[in-house]
Amino acid sequence: MANQSELDDHYTRMDKIFRLSLGEKGAYSCARFDGDFSMTTEAAQLKKYQFIEEGCKIKKGTKMLDIGCGWGHFVDYLTKKGVDAHGVVLAKGQADACIKNGLKVKHMDSKLITPETFGKFDAVTAMGSPEHLCSVEQYREGKQEMIYNTYFKQVADLLPIGGRYYCQSMVFGPKMVKFEDIKFGQTDLWKKEFTDEELMDIICEVFPGSWLPYGKEGLINPASKYFKVVSVDSGRLDYIETIHRWTAAFTAFNLQKYLLFASFVPDYLFDKTFRRWMRRFKIQANLHVFTREIFEHYRIVFEKVSD
Ligand SMILES: C[S@@+](CC[C@H](N)C(=O)[O-])C[C@H]1O[C@@H](n2cnc3c(N)ncnc32)[C@H](O)[C@@H]1O
Repeated sequence: MANQSELDDHYTRMDKIFRLSLGEKGAYSCARFDGDFSMTTEAAQLKKYQFIEEGCKIKKGTKMLDIGCGWGHFVDYLTKKGVDAHGVVLAKGQADACIKNGLKVKHMDSKLITPETFGKFDAVTAMGSPEHLCSVEQYREGKQEMIYNTYFKQVADLLPIGGRYYCQSMVFGPKMVKFEDIKFGQTDLWKKEFTDEELMDIICEVFPGSWLPYGKEGLINPASKYFKVVSVDSGRLDYIETIHRWTAAFTAFNLQKYLLFASFVPDYLFDKTFRRWMRRFKIQANLHVFTREIFEHYRIVFEKVSD
């Protein structure tokens, strides 16, 4: 599993830029365009939330948990509708922002939640956080299956029979390369073109400590002991569009943000690690892995059928 410092390397490092680009409580997971790319990003995020509310039967008064709630966009949206919405998040910058903004969010590792932590919930959601459950090392040690089995048991323990769980996650797609062919940490980031294996090396640097499930089966199979699938669909094309929207938002002019960019210049000039971090973003490996179908993305509504 990605630990706090690995998550901070991505999420907390970009905290201020993110909030100045996508809003104080911005959403940072794939929106739901369902192929209609004339929609605004906000409308597509709202469409996703309406889909989840319906799929998970979330109404005023429902007690729900959002695992890995980011900057709290969904928790905020539901709270305003009278839902008893709770969130947990491990990246420190995100937790601090959520708490400062008055959301019922706890800074903690979701792995440690038991029914004693907050009691049970009527519904649970996780958008993007299942991507960080297994690290490269754990995959190498053959622990991935056990990790996802444990995770689904943990989520099931938080729900009654009939309770719904919405899971949205990147997974490896049909063109995923062989693990043995990835030369971790050896890619020259300043090249212009990258092989699929090199993109995988770069993406593992962008999201340290994170190795994805293989296909939707990598989620559905370990869940099947406790959950039946209510609905499942691919969000790969929607994710490609969402990434284009984020890129536009990150580069859009905002004086405070541009002053912040300017304050990075000394780091850029003198800190090799920082230069590498910036370069990784510029390469947009996250976009290319989707266009090349190395990655897929699934949105699954589960219903608990057994303890
Ligand atoms: C792709 S982001 C999605 C954020 C949010 N769900 C959204 O849709 O805007 C994944 C989130 O999972 C959180 N996360 C990853 N592993 C976690 C863990 N073990 N415990 C709590 N949060 C975790 C990260 O901090 C990050 O906020």
